[in-house]
Amino acid sequence: MERKINVGVIFGGRSGEHEVSMMSSRSILAVLDPARYAVTQIGITHQGEWFTGEDVWGAFDAGWVDGLSRAVLLPEPGRATLYAHKGDSLEPVVDLDVIFPVLHGTFGEDGTLQGMLELADVAYVGAGVLASSVGMDKALFKDVMRANSLPTIESLTFLRGQIESQMDSVLEQSETMGYPLFAKPANMGSSVGITKCHGRSELYEGIMEAARFDRRILVEKSVPNAREIEVSVLGNDQPAASLPGEILPGDEYYSYEAKYISDNSQLLIPAPLPEALSEQICSLAVQAYRAIDCAGLARVDFLVDAVTLEVFINEVNTIPGFTRISMYPKLWEASGISYRDLVDRLIELALERKADRDRTERRFRRGA
Ligand SMILES: Nc1ncnc2c1ncn2[C@@H]1O[C@H](COP(=O)(O)OP(=O)(O)O)[C@@H](O)[C@H]1O
Ligand SMILES: [Mg+2]
Repeated sequence: MERKINVGVIFGGRSGEHEVSMMSSRSILAVLDPARYAVTQIGITHQGEWFTGEDVWGAFDAGWVDGLSRAVLLPEPGRATLYAHKGDSLEPVVDLDVIFPVLHGTFGEDGTLQGMLELADVAYVGAGVLASSVGMDKALFKDVMRANSLPTIESLTFLRGQIESQMDSVLEQSETMGYPLFAKPANMGSSVGITKCHGRSELYEGIMEAARFDRRILVEKSVPNAREIEVSVLGNDQPAASLPGEILPGDEYYSYEAKYISDNSQLLIPAPLPEALSEQICSLAVQAYRAIDCAGLARVDFLVDAVTLEVFINEVNTIPGFTRISMYPKLWEASGISYRDLVDRLIELALERKADRDRTERRFRRGA
């Protein structure tokens, strides 16, 4: 019999999307086949402490971590051993073959955790450091799209310092794009800190609000009559796109409220689009994915002008919502890959990517 694959599933985390991570990870933990995988649960608290033990998910859900052990993964290449604190010493728990980070947002999806996993030399699901951090940063992401002649929305980026010292000039430059304008923190998610601004006083407030959440702020032209189209992409060097889906937000736009609270947004799968447009969007999704050197998975989000059908790439999410009813797995289900098969495939892709990276020479030996 083949040895089981030791999978470490990491959930929770320090970002505002801790609760979304709990929901995504519950669905993933439920389908990992115990005949194939030996699963170790690793929970990260809001404060950033790592815990492992029996049923970490249940303990986190109950808000009761007393029965768990503090966990440590060392940033050194070796066997990717997960350790647990026992009194003053560290005891090995398991040598991990692959880690599945089910963390959304800052410190999980933005390349920071991925950097640590690179140092530990362990395979992990999803994008590497570069794609994770570019995917998280709306400003840099748009620059990469523009550099590749991929359609994205006109925007300007300002530093918090500029906003504090030269707000008049920031407002004037922004207004050249014409209202309505969106003010956004460069690094955030879940629509946090985002305001749609219809005039100067709203823009002022919106920029100040965005500056609470990041030191870099985007002011962006509004896509009129925006339809929200999303495509799931899966793969490493040969990524494939699902068919596109559409979100009908229950609000004026897809706000935090519409995403998580009011529950009045609808998913349309597939998105009702002319076939040629649908194909164009899928092709753009794969091009955007390749442009940031993404791996494993990403959901590529578009805004499409409902009247002119002009297409704009809005953002990529390298660890998209992953509950059974989330757009990412739903789109694959509609494209013929079940939720369970998708999770298996992501683990395979993580191992394949690690094997490929291991072929890279790390030291140059003169004459060798
Ligand atoms: N330029 C824009 N034009 C029209 N609507 C936008 C624009 N930018 C953002 N929105 C609306 O705001 C929502 C959240 O913005 P987004 O950039 O996707 O941030 P987040 O990372 O928080 O999802 C979008 O889903 C869309 O409804
Ligand atoms: Mg979005």
